[in-house]
Amino acid sequence: MRVFGLIGFPLSHSFSKKYFGEKFLREQIPDCRYEAFELSSIDQVSDLIKNEPPLQGFNITIPYKQEIIPFLHKASKVVKQIGACNCVKIVDQQLIGYNTDVEGFKQSLQKKLLPVHKQALVLGTGGAAKAVAYVLEEAGISYQYVSRNKAQRTGYLHYDQVDDEVLRTHLLIINTTPTGMYPRIDEAPALNYEALTPQHFLFDLTYNPEKTLFLQKGESRGAAIQNGYDMLVIQAEESWKIWNTALEELS
Ligand SMILES: NC(=O)c1ccc[n+]([C@@H]2O[C@H](COP(=O)([O-])OP(=O)(O)OC[C@H]3O[C@@H](n4cnc5c(N)ncnc54)[C@H](OP(=O)(O)O)[C@@H]3O)[C@@H](O)[C@H]2O)c1
Repeated sequence: MRVFGLIGFPLSHSFSKKYFGEKFLREQIPDCRYEAFELSSIDQVSDLIKNEPPLQGFNITIPYKQEIIPFLHKASKVVKQIGACNCVKIVDQQLIGYNTDVEGFKQSLQKKLLPVHKQALVLGTGGAAKAVAYVLEEAGISYQYVSRNKAQRTGYLHYDQVDDEVLRTHLLIINTTPTGMYPRIDEAPALNYEALTPQHFLFDLTYNPEKTLFLQKGESRGAAIQNGYDMLVIQAEESWKIWNTALEELS
């Protein structure tokens, strides 16, 4: 039996457990199990890797994407650069860290990205925002973080500073905050949505609800919209590839 899993806290409704369970059935992948491990402290990860049968790999979600890093024996270039890890491959009890959110966001973004989307606003400054920023840099898209409380002198914009001129010049807006996520579906980041146009592209990393208030407001102004569902599926599939590829072939 090959065992994989997800660590995080809380894990009351895990997309990944359901996704992998269905994948194993659909693709008739034998002898595999994907478990949700709700850890109240990241220190419990040391015991987890002693489980029998041994874990071959796991995903990491809130709040451990950064806290896992001191436990890694090796980390990919992306993990080192952004300081967030959402996928671990275990080889001989050694933990090797990867970030598949980056690939998930990259592939999902490309579907509706146009040459006009040259400047972006990244709402939020957590682990997912760093994965987003990495992809934007790679794509040559300049970006500005928008934060509720990070110091403005260090280059972050406060929501109050995102005026109509900022919205006019930043045609790509990516919500990496939990605002609008179930059950608080009647909330949206504090922007003047009236200033949006059909040239705008609004991407929300949230996938529940399918169309957040942020996306609804963008759509009503004619903007292109994308939710986080494809990103989620792509990052899961990228994790599966990593767990099934020999270490020597991974970068
Ligand atoms: N679709 C996918 O595959 C995928 C992958 C990764 C993450 N996600 C989603 O992305 C979101 C962020 O994940 P994360 O790991 O980056 O979380 P995180 O590390 O907690 O960061 C979220 C950021 O959002 C801002 N924020 C937090 N609470 C807020 C609030 N009430 N109002 C406004 N801003 C708030 C904070 O930035 P400031 O304090 O600077 O404002 C915070 O740094 C989650 O909803 C997660 O489910 C989706």
